[in-house]
Amino acid sequence: MSSTNRSKARDSHTSDYYKTPIDQIVKFLKEFNKHEDVFIKPYIKILDCCAGGLIEKDLMSYPEALKQIGIHNVDTIDIREDSLADIKVDYLTYDCKNKYDVIITNPPFSIAEDIIKKALDDVKDNGWVIMLLRLNFFEGKSRKDFWLDNMAKYSFVHSKRMSFTDNGGTDSVAYMHCVFQKSYNPEFCKLKVI
Ligand SMILES: C[S@@+](CC[C@H](N)C(=O)[O-])C[C@H]1O[C@@H](n2cnc3c(N)ncnc32)[C@H](O)[C@@H]1O
Repeated sequence: MSSTNRSKARDSHTSDYYKTPIDQIVKFLKEFNKHEDVFIKPYIKILDCCAGGLIEKDLMSYPEALKQIGIHNVDTIDIREDSLADIKVDYLTYDCKNKYDVIITNPPFSIAEDIIKKALDDVKDNGWVIMLLRLNFFEGKSRKDFWLDNMAKYSFVHSKRMSFTDNGGTDSVAYMHCVFQKSYNPEFCKLKVI
């Protein structure tokens, strides 16, 4: 595709590319493993639908973190052509064909709700959708109906401020790994500070 024809969303600066610190993902995965046996099942099918990475620069954070807990087969999608993902498409319009056990990522903030809803469609019954979200994703009038229909099972709130940049800078935003289970819509969410 020529650079004049392709969507600007395929460029790093316009597609909301930030890399999640791998050590913080591993911290979450190890804590999550204490509560659910999701990642210890054999033949688990996992997708990172906004996988990131940057050719010759950054690894893809979630697949790398999963490797550290012994999981090596993760399908990867990203809209950017300079991402390291196997499949370069807009996930929101992509037909996954087969259902996944787990979809995990740090989605772009601007389309996070749409990504979560699609991921819930793309996982098997009782499958898991795990997203890194700002803690204030819980607030907002317009989001109330979303939470009524899709309350997360867990929120693992990161006590350490995350840095998504090479210079180690942080902003004043708290983040959580929010864990949704398909077909399970509890009235309350379990919250743990990690
Ligand atoms: C916040 S970054 C996170 C990257 C990586 N998951 C990480 O945690 O380091 C969001 C990623 O989503 C990608 N992205 C943006 N819109 C997308 C879409 N519609 N479909 C698939 N990927 C998308 C961006 O190119 C970017 O790499």
